[in-house]
Parts: sequence; structure tokens; C-alpha cells
Amino acid sequence: MKPQRETWGTKIGLILAAAGNAVGLGNLLRFPSKAALYGGGAFMLPYFISLILLGLPVMLIEWVIGRYAGRYGHGSMTGIIGLFFKQASWARALGSLGVAIPILIVMYYIYIESWTLGFAFLSLFGMMPEPVSSPDPKVAMDPYLKFFKEYTSPSLLAGFFFWITLFINWIILQRGIARGIEITAKIGMPLLIIMGIFLGVISLSTNNWAGLEGLKFIYNLNFSGLKDPMIWIEASGQIFFTLSLGMGAIATYASYVKPREDVVKAGLWTAGVNEFVEVIIGASIAIPAAFAMFGALAVPELAKEGTFRIGFMTMPAILMNLPFGQILSFVWFMLLFIAALTSSLALIQPMVALFEDEMKWSHTKSVTVSMIIVIIGAHLCAFLPHFLDEFDFWAGAVFLLIYALLEIIIFLWVFGINNFYQELIRDSVIKIPKFFVYIMAIISPLFIVLIGYFWFSEKLLEVLAEEDPYKWLARAFIMAFIFFLGIIAIISRKRVLEGPVL
Ligand code: ALA
Repeated sequence: MKPQRETWGTKIGLILAAAGNAVGLGNLLRFPSKAALYGGGAFMLPYFISLILLGLPVMLIEWVIGRYAGRYGHGSMTGIIGLFFKQASWARALGSLGVAIPILIVMYYIYIESWTLGFAFLSLFGMMPEPVSSPDPKVAMDPYLKFFKEYTSPSLLAGFFFWITLFINWIILQRGIARGIEITAKIGMPLLIIMGIFLGVISLSTNNWAGLEGLKFIYNLNFSGLKDPMIWIEASGQIFFTLSLGMGAIATYASYVKPREDVVKAGLWTAGVNEFVEVIIGASIAIPAAFAMFGALAVPELAKEGTFRIGFMTMPAILMNLPFGQILSFVWFMLLFIAALTSSLALIQPMVALFEDEMKWSHTKSVTVSMIIVIIGAHLCAFLPHFLDEFDFWAGAVFLLIYALLEIIIFLWVFGINNFYQELIRDSVIKIPKFFVYIMAIISPLFIVLIGYFWFSEKLLEVLAEEDPYKWLARAFIMAFIFFLGIIAIISRKRVLEGPVL
């Protein structure tokens, strides 16, 4: 019996959902703060090289393999990797890491998402602190810094928006692929682009277009970054994170396409919209606004304080000082919320697919259990120190790299370059030349190994030397969670073998 799986309703819905999967907090918060921290133009060359040599290849691989595995009824990495090894237990267990990664990410991501919703409504209802007008960023940001600390301590107010955010995600996922995720993206993505362009124009034009200097800082392309391993680590990490690659999330969405869908087109659209929102809209808001208000020297200093500083403290301090400040601040946080929502749905769906396709559970049961797991993890991130940072470090950076390498090895080398190429060009209007597949198969993995080496020598040893009990508790949780998913992969094997295998 061939399992009946849901599919995307329309082509435009598919593209918007996939773009929503990729476009997220990574584009609007992570990108500007990394670019500012690593010297603007110096960061951009390694960034674009990583986009071509890592981003596009892995994007195409996940789309092609997702469509292929969907035909056999698999949408989670557990089943997808299993498919290439006759559903052997070890392969399924290895695949489970590809479900653990997006879920570990969403456990902290959804918590941050809830801050954006909270701050949006607090701005709208005049419940944010009164702005202080000062050219000194420290003075202007002080009220928002205090407010942010109180809010995320965690407070009742934060808890309220946290649960609303969880509930919104739950309801949308419960409605399913076409009626839930797709409709959300069809409404959310156009709104996001309009709001983003609007805020970009506001930021650039602040103080007689002084914001343009901020844009120039980001686009002052120069070669100095090419020599710095840290910039390579951060730029390639940003590409993986922003395009949702090495997380299995793109492959899961691709598994719901119709059998003859043009996945090359879908992949290029996903990457194209994501990059538009990142390097055009994302580059035009936070950094230019900070340039215009506080001057060039303040920006790298702000970025050093971390991603949250620019998004939750600098931006309200700037926007609330402009005419209609409350509304502008509302638009900024709503923009972040929509971006985050369409991504958190995509990060949870691999686990829903795991339960539906592998455990053969009903949709409702799959969504309910997935959400309970996400809620438990999200509360750990909210209440325990260092959990958020540890999950971000391991799942949001280190594992992505490892998993992307694994995907290339299995989907290109084990599957076979010719088989992969046939799948790539099947039903595609754009015929990607075969030499690009060789780049994907040879250059991309070598690139990942090199970045991995930089990671190991620059960061990993240093991180592992830190002795904080909460950090180790977080790591123990991560290991236990991966182990738990490995067990699910193995116990569900029998149910899958009763269905079609390769
Ligand atoms: N790709 C998502 C983002 O950029 C996870 O936020």
C-alpha cells in the first residue's frame, strides 16, 4: 500500500512556505549583528563565497532528496537516510540527528519568537519605556536594556506571550501542510516583505539619509576577511542558519511536493527570496538605523553585545524616538514575529513528519506529542541558565556543519552522482550543468572539512574547557534527546518495513 501524504496546495504557496522556512530571525537579527561585528564589507566576501559553494549546493540536495523520499512516504531525516540503507537501524538512528537539530533549535527559537510578539503588542499599547533622546547609545538604550532584563527574567508578562506563541504554532501545525503552514506563509510573507521595505526606507532616510552610511559599511566589500578563520566560520555558519540547511527542515518541506514538482526552481526561489530579505532588507534596517542615530563607531560596539542587543534594545531606542515611534516599533517587532513564526513551524514539522511517517501516528497525535516536547525544551531554555546559548552553539552551529557533510556524502556519493543528477534535472526547466554536481560532491565537502578544522582549532576546544555545571547539564540534555530520537528511529523501523522501501 502506498501511503497517502499531504501535498502543498499551490505552487505559489509552496514557494512562499519554503521562503518562510528560510527567512527568519537569522535574516533580520543574526545577519546584521554578524556583519557589523566582523567589519561589514570584510564579512561579505566569505559570506557570498559560502552562499555559492555551500548554500546553493546543500539547498538543491535537500530539495531533490526531499522530493525523492516523499515519493516513498518519508519526510523526516530518520526515514530519508534510512531509505538509502534499506532502513537499517543504524542509518535510521543516524538520520535522527537530523530531527534533533531542528527541534533543539526551535526550543530556544520559539522562546525568542515570543519576545518579538510581546514587544510588538507592548509597543502598540504604549507599555514600552519612554524613549530618551541622546546621541550616546548607552544612555538612549538604558531604559530598554532594563526593560528587556525584567521581561526575560522570566516574568508573568513574558510567560503570557510565550504561551500565546506556543498556541499559535500548535494550531497552525494542527491544521496541516496546505491549510495551516501554506496559508500562514501566503498571508505572512507578502506582509513581511512590505513591512521590511517600509522599515528599510525609514532607517536609511533617518537623519537626512545618514543611514545610507550604514549600508555602505556593509557593502564596502574588501578582501581582508578572507584571511580570518573566524570570519569564515561565522559567514558559513550564517549561510547554513539563514537558509535552514543541515537541519532537515528544507528536505521535510520538499517531501510534501507533488511528484513532478520542479525542485530546482523551488530551491532557487527559496534561496533567492531569503537572500533578498537578508542582504537587501536585513542590511537596510538595523545597521543603517544605528549608524544614523549613534554614528559609525557605535555600531561594532553594539554588535559585540550580541544579537539581542541590536534587535531588542537598539531598535526600540531608535524607533521610539522617531515620529509615530510606537507604531514603528510595533511594525519592527511584528516583522520579526512573522519571520520567526514561519521558521518555527518549519523547524517543528520534521518531528511531526517523524511521528506520522515512521511511527504511523495520526496527525493530531503527532502534532500534540511534538508540541509537548517543544514546550518542555522551550521552558528549559527559558528557566535554566546557558541552555539557550548551548542549544544555539551545538544545534544552531556545530551540528549543522556535520549534518550538511553527512547529507553530501549520503545523497551524492552513496546514492551515486549519476542517480542524483538524474533526479536533479528531472522535471526541471533549468538544467543545471553536471559540473556543478561535481562541485557539490567535491568542493563543498572539502570546504566544510576546512571550516570544521577552523571550528575545532578556534572555538571548540576553548568552549569545552569551560566548566559551568549548567552548560554540562544542557549538553547532557542534548545527548539524551538525540538518544531518545535514535530509539524512536529503531522502534519504528518495523512499522516502516511493512510499507514500501527502496
Ligand atoms: N532559517 C531560519 C532563520 O533564518 C532558521 O531564522
